[in-house]
Amino acid sequence: MVYISNTVKNKKLSGNGQYTQLCQQFFEDKYGFNKCLLTTSCTDALEMCAILLDIKPEDEVIIPSFTFVSTANAFVLRGANVVFCDSSEQHPNIDPDLIEKLITPNTKAIVVVHYAGVACDMDRIMNIANKHNLFVVEDAAQAVDSYYKGKPLGGIGHLAAFSFHETKNISSGEGGMLVVNDHQFAERSEIIWEKGTNRAAFFKGEVDKYNWVDIGSSYLPSEITAAFLWAQLEGLEDIQAKRKSIYNSYLQLLKPLEEKRLLKLPRIPNYATNNGHMFYILCKTNEQRESLICHLKQNDILAVFHYLPLHKSPFYSDKHLGAIPRCDDYADHIVRLPFYFDLLDSEIEYIVSKIKLFFSTESSL
Ligand SMILES: Cc1ncc(COP(=O)(O)O)c(C=O)c1O
Repeated sequence: MVYISNTVKNKKLSGNGQYTQLCQQFFEDKYGFNKCLLTTSCTDALEMCAILLDIKPEDEVIIPSFTFVSTANAFVLRGANVVFCDSSEQHPNIDPDLIEKLITPNTKAIVVVHYAGVACDMDRIMNIANKHNLFVVEDAAQAVDSYYKGKPLGGIGHLAAFSFHETKNISSGEGGMLVVNDHQFAERSEIIWEKGTNRAAFFKGEVDKYNWVDIGSSYLPSEITAAFLWAQLEGLEDIQAKRKSIYNSYLQLLKPLEEKRLLKLPRIPNYATNNGHMFYILCKTNEQRESLICHLKQNDILAVFHYLPLHKSPFYSDKHLGAIPRCDDYADHIVRLPFYFDLLDSEIEYIVSKIKLFFSTESSL
């Protein structure tokens, strides 16, 4: 609240002020990202990526089908054809083994999503991209403070996008951030961010007037949003410690059910870290998943499914041919358990006890 009232006292409510710069600098210093720009959402940051990559009609972009609509929509807005890729067997993330088959002379970029904050196999993906001269965008919406072989997620692809929506570890209500790792995009990213003008360069004293120089939009958040985010970033370590402890409690308490093969728990590959973004379980069938959600609801527990396959969406199904079976399986079987900073140990125990009750009646059927 102090930071928000400072923005009012300082009469600096519009974007790119003190708090915006503090937040951007925080990410650049802590994670070594080359250049960060706060945006009003991850969706906006992804749209900026599509503009920066000069995506044009007929360009193809390879995207996992198991993701949020914005991952694909940002590129479709520029006229791209989205080529959907399946998830891997071990994890909902994109399967690197399937990417190369989808590459054509029209392919321009691969967009990866670090689902639940768990890294995709980035060495393999970057090797494929380098071999075929493609750009890589990391949709790191859920991946703040998570790593791949010691490298922070969002710092590996040419560009990356984070979300600070209220459902994320670090939140400003709505909010996001573009990360520009490839220097060639740095200057243009500021122009696109500032409605297609060189206003940011003007404020840095690099030009004496600012003008319309490119396409762009209004992607900056206000200082009020940045001030809120700054307070969250100051608490990052506590937030992350608490979220990881919630994750570990669920994992320990639910392990016996996995050992009895009643459900599956999330897997974190050796190359990835867990950032405590979410905890999900995998049911055996869609019917079982629906009855579990219903059973939990009857016990005042809000557990939810997740993405619907984009290749089957009303908007894209007629533009996509072929099956994407693992994506369908994840979409049908995932249940996300309640996961928020204030969640108490006693509440986790209550939730797990109701899950156990459900599976004990199921297994005795
Ligand atoms: C993988 C992924 N990408 C993008 C987004 C969009 O984020 P935002 O709401 O900040 O635009 C989400 C939202 O949850 C997401 O899960």
